[in-house]
Amino acid sequence: MMSAPSAGRSRGLPRHALRRSAAVLVLATLVALPFSVLYRAGVSRSPGASWGWETSLPAVVASEDEEGDDLDSEDLKLEQILKKASMGDNTVILTTLNAAWASPGSVIDLFIDSFHSGVRTNLLLKHLVIVAFDWEAYEQCIKIHPYCFALGTEGLDFSEEKRFLTSGYLEMMWRRLDFLRLVLEKGYNFIFSDADIMWFRNPFPHFYPDVDFQIACDHYVGNATDLRNIANGGFSYVKSNERSIEFYNFWYSSRLRYPGYHDQDVFNAIKHDPYIVGIGLTIKFLSTKYFGGFCEPSRDLNEVCTMHANCCIGLRSKILDLRIMMEDWRNYLSLPPNLKRLRTSAWRVPQNCRYDDGYPTLTSDSILSSSH
Ligand SMILES: *[C@@H]1O[C@H](CO)[C@@H](O)[C@H](O)[C@H]1NC(C)=O
Repeated sequence: MMSAPSAGRSRGLPRHALRRSAAVLVLATLVALPFSVLYRAGVSRSPGASWGWETSLPAVVASEDEEGDDLDSEDLKLEQILKKASMGDNTVILTTLNAAWASPGSVIDLFIDSFHSGVRTNLLLKHLVIVAFDWEAYEQCIKIHPYCFALGTEGLDFSEEKRFLTSGYLEMMWRRLDFLRLVLEKGYNFIFSDADIMWFRNPFPHFYPDVDFQIACDHYVGNATDLRNIANGGFSYVKSNERSIEFYNFWYSSRLRYPGYHDQDVFNAIKHDPYIVGIGLTIKFLSTKYFGGFCEPSRDLNEVCTMHANCCIGLRSKILDLRIMMEDWRNYLSLPPNLKRLRTSAWRVPQNCRYDDGYPTLTSDSILSSSH
């Protein structure tokens, strides 16, 4: 999408300097921020520990016993749900949901609907865990899906529509990344999918074997290992191992070095960081041929796996275009095989979705008009 203006700053810095500046920031955070944040930082420093604040902050535990119990039971609930939903190899499909995306006829209904109308995607639903950011989303979730998890949001309200790059939106995105890190720490591989991604075919045949971290793109340069691909954090397939956990720790803590940016921009900035090479993390970018979106559509309906309503500002426009996209898909499915093979079907989207907030991106005409 865009590269943070400070993107190049860390490039080429020796690792100890990075570490040192990170340490300074962490120190500053510990001094400056209230307890709730401090507590989270404590958790983030202890991979493998289950919400291990008893050990990291003994002085406060006595007075906060009840909350400690709540967190323990939240943690237990998460483990139970992951276990139930996971495939044989400990893989789950995850999405996140807030109230704005949860109302009937809204994004989450379209998301679930796409699994039902996709080619053999129906069975994948039993591996999907919906992570609710607020109570309303949770209540709606349990009406439509068996695996819902209410993520404790520590007093933050994530229920409204979050306009792109408002501070609430940023908080939500970073909370999501922190959660995904926790899932990796619990030993589960995941496919994370934003709920505004329609699933039309099973993605597994198009994943790379033996890669730690695979991510979809707003813009794909034609080479899966080229770091110039512009990643989109809305769809990723991540294997749980030491490298991926360390990488998520690094990614999450990098938010302090890029204040005001969301996880995706920070990824596009840190993907060049020598620290990642040091970790040994293997990264591949998924082609928009199979994993497309409004930024760069999957043109061939015979091949498409997923389509993301990215490059889109505003919930109303997003839903309108998602509905048109689902119609296009159903029309394609209703064609006889010989007409399908002719590859004449094309998406009519984006129509309502535009990237019109002056956000500097790949919204040059060439990319937006490539859908037609
Ligand atoms: C793909 O990108 C990688 C990394 O930039 C490069 O080493 C490789 O040669 C590229 N492959 C092709 C076929 O261009």
